[in-house]
Amino acid sequence: MSKTHSRYVCQECGRVTASYMGKCPQCGSFNTMIEEVIHEEKISSKKAAVRGLTGRSEPRPIGQISGDVEERIPLPIGEFARVLGGGIVPGSIVLVGGDPGIGKSTLMLQMTLEMAHSQKVLYVSGEESERQIKMRAMRLAHTDEGKDGNSLPDELLLVTETNLETILNHVREVQPSLLIIDSIQTIYLSHMDSSAGSVSQVRECASQLRELAKTSGISVFIIGHVTKEGTLAGPRVLEHIVDTVLYLEGDRFQAYRLLRSVKNRFGAIAEVGVFEMREHGLKEVNNPSEAFLSERMVNAPGSAIAVTMEGTRPLLVEVQGLTSPTNFGNARRTPNGVDYNRLLMIAAVLTRRVGMKLAEQDLFVNVVSGLQIDEPAADLAVAAAIASSVRDTPVKAEAVLIGEIGLAGELRMPGQMMLRLREAAKLGFKTAIIPKKLRPGEAWPKGIEVIEVRSLKQALEAALLGGDAPGGRKQAA
Ligand code: TYD
Ligand code: MG
Repeated sequence: MSKTHSRYVCQECGRVTASYMGKCPQCGSFNTMIEEVIHEEKISSKKAAVRGLTGRSEPRPIGQISGDVEERIPLPIGEFARVLGGGIVPGSIVLVGGDPGIGKSTLMLQMTLEMAHSQKVLYVSGEESERQIKMRAMRLAHTDEGKDGNSLPDELLLVTETNLETILNHVREVQPSLLIIDSIQTIYLSHMDSSAGSVSQVRECASQLRELAKTSGISVFIIGHVTKEGTLAGPRVLEHIVDTVLYLEGDRFQAYRLLRSVKNRFGAIAEVGVFEMREHGLKEVNNPSEAFLSERMVNAPGSAIAVTMEGTRPLLVEVQGLTSPTNFGNARRTPNGVDYNRLLMIAAVLTRRVGMKLAEQDLFVNVVSGLQIDEPAADLAVAAAIASSVRDTPVKAEAVLIGEIGLAGELRMPGQMMLRLREAAKLGFKTAIIPKKLRPGEAWPKGIEVIEVRSLKQALEAALLGGDAPGGRKQAA
């Protein structure tokens, strides 16, 4: 007999409670608990389904468990394959998250257009009509000059559908090896009372798709929107269900897009792929450092080059700093691409340990190209960009700055210095200003002069042109 009762689900974090609460006990958000009616039976059938997922279970010695190295379906888009760890694992379920309009559908469609030459692909869209998708596909297919836009692959099947039961029927009929769901927030299961996009629907739909992937060997890609306000059921609740979580990020007003893996059961995380949004879709950027530095104004004050690690790849980025006298009241600190608290810390160290007067200055820091750098290794470049603006003196054009700043004004060695230095040398930088090595190790690579310094103050003296006066008395009027 079916018994119904209510539960309350936080739309931010997915926390379930038995009674209504104004504030979510888990994430602390207000007014996010939404009532959902559930039927007792479904719970038990769901549990059974989950148990049935692996079939009969039996503990065995690890050596006797069959399984070779995971076979992967090769992916012709190099930057995408890099992020996935080499290719698509059959039976895996991948979440592609990102802000609306960032290019998730474009990326997926590009991938399927490539994959459909060798695999059967089913693209399910709950957002766009088949005709719209076809028109976009025609446009994307033109990227390859030799290819005719009308010769779209026959193995790519499109359907506009939002009911998951119907979608699963389509899958049974079509038997694709790759399934794309665009997007998880638009699909729903009819037996659930909550609306599409609610945490319960999203979680339940994803679980069913996961079951499909694990039992049939179909690789499933799910698109999920994230909004800053978290108004849509964010992919947060999905992260536990899927094997791999990719985020497509970037500044909507800039062309570069970064595809980042934040969870990967089949490869390294923190790998990034770099793309550029063009007229004919996303284009791989094979040499991102070069691209990011292409618009740099050499010898302009307030600019410094940092070398950050994105996964296993060093990236050179330009950090810009600008100070200007505060007009009213409190001085403002405005970071774009660096962490706000990190910027406050760097400004405080510049004030206290280097003697720079920042109290009545508004401070802006910008990472060119729309990249977000979270690594402390970029501290030194941020500090140099600010100091360079304060003193109105450019940083040496051919220098990169790498190092974490401590509260005492000392510099600390970040990891993977060799890789960073090699990348800087490869791009033609002549000098690198880095923290002093305290333990003897390998020699630094050839082709780049390495200046080792102990403190931020010494680093700035070495980095700024004509910055010979310690403490920066050459301050702009
Ligand atoms: P889309 O893939 O629809 O974003 P999402 O699925 O993440 O919501 O991409 C939307 C943006 O991409 C849109 O604003 C236009 C831009 N775009 C291009 O610049 N060039 C192209 O070839 C395509 C297909 C899209
Ligand atoms: Mg889309």
